[in-house]
Amino acid sequence: MSNLVRFGVSLEKELLERFDEHIQGKKYTNRSEAIRDMIRDELVKKEWLEGKEVTGSITLVYNHHKRELTNFLIDIQHDYHHIILSTQHIHLDEDNCLEIIVMKGKPKEIEELYGKLKSAKGVKHGGFAMTTTGKEIT
Ligand code: NI
Repeated sequence: MSNLVRFGVSLEKELLERFDEHIQGKKYTNRSEAIRDMIRDELVKKEWLEGKEVTGSITLVYNHHKRELTNFLIDIQHDYHHIILSTQHIHLDEDNCLEIIVMKGKPKEIEELYGKLKSAKGVKHGGFAMTTTGKEIT
């Protein structure tokens, strides 16, 4: 990496000890890698706050025997087809389904879709991961 820049950081000893403890728990092998990841997390948050084009995924666990719920979830997804890249449906057991929905679009619409799906009556759990298109992050 020819464009690598080194810089010094001054901070309290106790704070650095706590940081080292924290990153050890997360299995980072060195501070640089941990700090790089923290910076990237902040930049992704900034993309979301600024309404840039972003990506994300939703996970839903629900009982497919509730036909109305199943239809409702499909209807909502069709309303947002323009931001949905893919949907994966996994039959977890005889009753439960896990759905993973991957999206690319404006944060506002992605969050709106998540809100509608998660709050649907009968959804057992909804999860959400926000990430980036990767275009502005090295
Ligand atoms: Ni299923």
